[in-house]
Amino acid sequence: FPFLLPLFYRALCEPIRYSIPEELAKGSVVGNLAKDLGLSVQEASARKLRVSAEKLLFSIDRESGDLLVKDRIDREQICRERRRCELQLEAVVENPLNIFHIIVVVEDINDHAPQFDKKDIHLEIFESVSAGARISLDPATDPDINMNSIKDYHINPNSYFKLMVRVNSDGGKYPELSLEKPLDREVQRSHRLILTALDGGDPPRSATVRIEIVVKDTNDNPPVFSKDEYRVSVSESLPPGSSVLQVTATDQDEGANAEISYHFRSTAQSTRHMFSLDEKTGLIKNNQSLDFEDMERYTMEVEAKDGGGLSTQCKVIIEILDENDNSPEIIITSLSDEILEDSQPGMVVALFKTRDWDFGGNGEVMCDIERDVPFKIHSSSNNYYKLVTDGTLDREQTPEYNVTITATDRGKPPLSSSTTITLRVTDVNDNAPVFQQPAYLVHVPENNPPGASIAQVSASDPDLGPNGQVSYAIVASDLEARALSSYVSVSAHSGVVFAQRAFDHEQLRAFELTLQARDQGSPALSANVSLRVLVGDRNDNAPRAPPGGRAGRGPAAPLSHRHAAPGLR
Ligand SMILES: *[C@@H]1O[C@H](CO)[C@@H](O)[C@H](O)[C@H]1NC(C)=O
Ligand SMILES: *[C@@H]1O[C@H](CO)[C@@H](O)[C@H](O)[C@H]1NC(C)=O
Repeated sequence: FPFLLPLFYRALCEPIRYSIPEELAKGSVVGNLAKDLGLSVQEASARKLRVSAEKLLFSIDRESGDLLVKDRIDREQICRERRRCELQLEAVVENPLNIFHIIVVVEDINDHAPQFDKKDIHLEIFESVSAGARISLDPATDPDINMNSIKDYHINPNSYFKLMVRVNSDGGKYPELSLEKPLDREVQRSHRLILTALDGGDPPRSATVRIEIVVKDTNDNPPVFSKDEYRVSVSESLPPGSSVLQVTATDQDEGANAEISYHFRSTAQSTRHMFSLDEKTGLIKNNQSLDFEDMERYTMEVEAKDGGGLSTQCKVIIEILDENDNSPEIIITSLSDEILEDSQPGMVVALFKTRDWDFGGNGEVMCDIERDVPFKIHSSSNNYYKLVTDGTLDREQTPEYNVTITATDRGKPPLSSSTTITLRVTDVNDNAPVFQQPAYLVHVPENNPPGASIAQVSASDPDLGPNGQVSYAIVASDLEARALSSYVSVSAHSGVVFAQRAFDHEQLRAFELTLQARDQGSPALSANVSLRVLVGDRNDNAPRAPPGGRAGRGPAAPLSHRHAAPGLR
């Protein structure tokens, strides 16, 4: 036992000192007490050498006089934290009775590892804490002393924390974390470290504890929209109260710092009336009916605000798509009062335009009219149209046309509307009078009363007004020109032919007149017809008495009217 070291040899008042390490096995020799007391083995046995103490941890080997370890000697149990650990006992001998003081110094061995109070250490650090901040940690404990007590701490290498070992007022060492660079909860919400405590024993003993560091949120992130600009196209027929678009913003913070509410910002009042925005969900609905013709696009700004007061804006554009909800309109801008029946094809009789409030094809308009009329449509620029004649007109056949113009757009399905205009064909003197008979022949008995009507001619003219008004006149005859008016006349108005004198068969048996019917047109048109008058014989002469007598050659006696103009018409 080289470590057994009697410190002093016997001196009456000086105690005998031994030094042993703690935790020696039972039966281990502390020292040869008999020899150290100056006794032989036989003497020690004869004088009944023994040890006594409050708690007997040692005994004497009778054969050798050795002081032996009898029970477990735990320095930490016996001396706790005292720096010096000494056990005092007495050696007793008889014949004569004598008592010697013995001190056994118990030396520390590294029989304890450091120990942490808890298995895990929980820390919470705000992400706003700046670099250089320090966090003291509870130290580990080690009941061993001096070299065998805690000597050092370290943590696993990491980029955020460094470990410092500090000494407190009573000389104990404790670990302290130092923040090397700022934390960011949004990058890493927690950090795990392993803290190791080491004692100074040889070999050293150690203990570890897990450190969990939770990074606490600060409102260091504004909300972020999923897009800078939201764009949507909706039909103008979308019913009020429909969902149009949803804006979404997220916030990397947590808790109230990530609670987002949505608001309109710098948006026209009229737009706010048209759309509603759900503060919580960001859902935009149309509050009223949309009308492309009213507004083709709405622009608004929506703000997302978190509970910590940070905010972001996005732009929302809502395009309204046209539906074919407007019928085309036809606007007649000018209409001819008179369309002369002799108008040349291509004459403009009406001007009109179309209008359709819809967009694109929905607002593109085509015009048409019925097929069986002598008119057609010419389109000119910008939805302006001309209605022109297309063929010959004849008032006497068709004095009036009702022309229906139909305007149809190119929507799907198309919408159309129509309007009817009445076109009146005005008369042109394009018809000459026509006699009812190609020629007339009348028999007039002689001795007719003067002034008797002897014939009537009649002509018709389908033209209108003066163009169709016929008057009659005698334009030629085979009578001597100067005598004509003393024989016959014609009523210009009625075409009745009158005898102006009594005819005498003996003198005038027949004559022929050319009658003319003439309308009042300008220029006038006329037609001629021949009227042949045969004068009939009556027994108005007595047989001839003396030759050269003049009977029957005088003017005829008046005849009664009932004989007039037999066989007329
Ligand atoms: C439109 O908005 C007004 C007021 O903002 C509200 O009273 C009304 O109920 C809304 N209408 C619809 C269809 O959402
Ligand atoms: C044209 O329409 C008018 C009014 O509806 C009607 O009185 C007239 O008889 C029509 N004319 C023709 C030729 O159909």
